[in-house]
Amino acid sequence: MADGILSVLSTLTFILVFLLGLGLAGVIVLFFIDITQKQDAVRRNYPVIGRFRHLFSSLGEFFRQYFFAMDREEMPFNRAEREWVERAAKGTGNTIAFGSTKNLDPAGTPIFVNCPFPTLEKDAAETATCTLGPYCEKPFEAKSLFNISAMSFGALSVPAVQALSHGAKMAGCWMNTGEGGLSPYHLEGGCDIVFQIGTAKYGVRNDDGSLNDEKLRAIADHEQVRMFEIKMSQGAKPGKGGILPAAKVTETIAKVRGIPEGKASISPNRHPEINSVEDMLDFVDHVRKVTGKPTGIKAVVGAYGWIESLCEEIHRRGIESAPDFFTLDGGDGGTGAAPMPLMDNVGLQLDESLPMLSDIFHKYGLRERIRIIASGKRVTPSEVAWAICAGADFVNSARGFMFSLGCIQAMKCNKNTCPTGITTHDPRLQRGLDPTDKKVKVANYCKSLVHEVEVLAHSCGVDEPRQLGRKHVRIVQDSGMSIPLDEIHPRPEVVRNFKVIDPVSG
Ligand SMILES: Cc1cc2nc3c(=O)[nH]c(=O)nc-3n(C[C@H](O)[C@H](O)[C@H](O)COP(=O)(O)O)c2cc1C
Ligand code: SF4
Repeated sequence: MADGILSVLSTLTFILVFLLGLGLAGVIVLFFIDITQKQDAVRRNYPVIGRFRHLFSSLGEFFRQYFFAMDREEMPFNRAEREWVERAAKGTGNTIAFGSTKNLDPAGTPIFVNCPFPTLEKDAAETATCTLGPYCEKPFEAKSLFNISAMSFGALSVPAVQALSHGAKMAGCWMNTGEGGLSPYHLEGGCDIVFQIGTAKYGVRNDDGSLNDEKLRAIADHEQVRMFEIKMSQGAKPGKGGILPAAKVTETIAKVRGIPEGKASISPNRHPEINSVEDMLDFVDHVRKVTGKPTGIKAVVGAYGWIESLCEEIHRRGIESAPDFFTLDGGDGGTGAAPMPLMDNVGLQLDESLPMLSDIFHKYGLRERIRIIASGKRVTPSEVAWAICAGADFVNSARGFMFSLGCIQAMKCNKNTCPTGITTHDPRLQRGLDPTDKKVKVANYCKSLVHEVEVLAHSCGVDEPRQLGRKHVRIVQDSGMSIPLDEIHPRPEVVRNFKVIDPVSG
């Protein structure tokens, strides 16, 4: 018996000494690697110990998110916003207790003006449908004011696209393909689809990157594809094309995009054939003629003189020539991958650009003709309602829908290691994302958000959200006092209008 114990103890001692020796050998190897390498000064000066700096800074991100950050502190989206989406997506009711944790004092905070006589429930209406592209062969009557923003297949995984497609169908909203082409996964849920033509024309390109009309027509032949969006720029990277790292260019993605497999996919920083507003209208006209469907543009606005020139040119050509919609992205929009200076400091935020765009269209009598779709950090009902008040007809969200799919804001979308399976093509990580469960969450999120915008509209005394205007929201100023949005952005005079021709009397 004693012999047995002794032999177990000596084996354990041997293992311990062996492991210590192995550990020591490892430290010595790391020491020599660190002291001889030249890329990292800290590791060269403090071999082995310097490595802990990297470990602690990545752990710091984790600890801040879960233990130290307050509810309203994190960026780009704070915990309160993410949890609102999570509760909405679960569909378990979205009330909170005791009182608001939101600080309402900072300048820029919107305060909606409730009416002393809110709309009675019996008079309350659901949001009406809204028509886009009245002059084209197949106008689109859109049901939902809140829709899924462009996110390419490639940036997104197969199960994420599947869940969004089915969820959009259940909620009655549209799904924008993003610049990565149209896949069978977009179509399988049966939802309305907006096909985006990016600068590389993925899915509708010739080998030289120019537009292939036959492929475009084939996309338009899908009944589900309701509209075409020409991407001029996006908020997270104005002046830069899409970036899809090589690890994410799988066989299927390469096939859908029409590019070689396993090679990083970088699209041009603009459409080579669009050099002016005249070219832009020519291109819109061409796509609309080939497809017969509403065609618009997407851009983030920085310089804005060109929008006035665009309106002037539309007046020269006639009202039919106008883009059917303008998707206005905020400078603070998200993406799969982009350089930090573009992400941080280029392009106006919606707070400034949305009233401005809407006013320019109003000034030229085009406000009803060109529908405005706003996107950029609008994930909760009050943010969406503000955009409607300021001048949007629709609001799109990308990251809001990612949260509904289970995104935890780990911010590794460009690394193919997304822990929730949304932006990775690693089958092991995709296993976590079950489209059958997540499609319900996508639909719940969309429906709850629209419902709460409706509730907000009724509180302001109007029947439905699109009756909200600038007078319904006040903006807190530096002094702590608020002033109405229609005083900050009064509607300009109409300087040019279209002669309305009665189709009967001519
Ligand atoms: C993962 C991901 C992929 C995206 N891909 C595209 C794209 O292909 N084309 C595009 O115009 N915008 C793309 N965007 C930008 C969004 O469509 C949207 O303009 C922007 O994120 C603002 O909306 P959000 O604040 O609701 O995310 C992408 C965004 C994300 C997060
Ligand atoms: S969990 Fe992280 S990596 Fe995945 S989509 Fe969300 S932010 Fe991107």
